[in-house]
Amino acid sequence: MWDPSTYLRYGDERSRPFHDLVARVPAERPRAVVDLGCGPGTLTATLAERWPASRIAGLDSSAEMIDRAGALAAPVSFSVGDVRDWRPEPDVDVVVCNAVLQWVPGHQELLTRWAGALPAGAWLAFQVPGNFAAPSHRALREVAGRDRWRDTLAPLLREAPVDEPVDYAALLVGAGCAVDAWETTYVHLLPAAGADHPVLAWMEGTALRPVRAALDAAGWADFRAELGVRLAEAYPVRQGQVYFPFRRIFVVARTGARAEENL
Ligand SMILES: C[S@@+](CC[C@H](N)C(=O)[O-])C[C@H]1O[C@@H](n2cnc3c(N)ncnc32)[C@H](O)[C@@H]1O
Repeated sequence: MWDPSTYLRYGDERSRPFHDLVARVPAERPRAVVDLGCGPGTLTATLAERWPASRIAGLDSSAEMIDRAGALAAPVSFSVGDVRDWRPEPDVDVVVCNAVLQWVPGHQELLTRWAGALPAGAWLAFQVPGNFAAPSHRALREVAGRDRWRDTLAPLLREAPVDEPVDYAALLVGAGCAVDAWETTYVHLLPAAGADHPVLAWMEGTALRPVRAALDAAGWADFRAELGVRLAEAYPVRQGQVYFPFRRIFVVARTGARAEENL
C-alpha cells in the first residue's frame, strides 16, 4: 500500500525530476495529456497549468493515492487503474510517466505498445530511478539477504528493475520514435534532524514499502534498525545533513518520427 504522506515527505526533491522531464516536452497545444502512475496528483496538477486548454487525466493503481489526488482543486480527472491495462484514446498527445515503471516488470513491452498506439507526433516522457547499484540499495539487498529474511524478501527485491538510457533509446527508436534520453545525478542534501537516518526516511516512502508490507511489526522494527545502521555508515552526517546522490534516467520520445530526426 502507498502512503501519500510518507511519499510526500521529500516533496521538493522528488518533484524536481518531474519538472526536468516535462521541460523537455515542447508540445504546444496537446489535445489530451495523461499522467500514468500519477501518485498524489500534485505534479499532475502542474500539467494543467502548463497546458490549460488540454484535457488532463491522472491514473494510478493505488486507491489511497487517487483519494488524495481527488481532493486537489485541479482541473484533472483522476482514476484508479493499472498502467498495464491502459490504452491511449486517439487524442492523447502527451503521456507522462514519472517514477513508476521501475515498479512494473516487463515495462519495455508497454513502452513499445504505447509508442505504437499513440498518434503520430505524440510525446511519451518517462523517468525512472537509476540508483539500484547505489549504497542505499546495496545495503537494502544485503540486509534482506540475511538468513532471517531471505526467503520472504528475496523475491521482492530485483537487482536491476530498469534499463540503461541507451537501451531505452534503442528500444524506442526501434519503435519508430525520435528519442532524447539522458541521465542526471542529483545530490540531495537531507537534513539529519529526526531520530531516523534521513535516507531511511526517504526509502520508507518508496523502496521499503514492499519490505514493510511483507514483515510483521517486530520483523519490520528489526529490519529498519539494521538498515539504519548500514545507511549511517554509507551516508555519514556532515554539517548537520546527509549528502544523498540519486541517479535518474530520463527518456522523451516522439512517436512516428524518423530516426534522423532524433531530438
Ligand atoms: C514513486 S510514485 C510516483 C508518483 C508520481 N508519478 C510522482 O512523480 O510523484 C509511484 C506511483 O506509481 C504507482 N504505480 C505503481 N505501479 C503501478 C501500476 N502498475 N499501475 C498504475 N500505477 C502504478 C504507485 O501507486 C505510485 O503512486
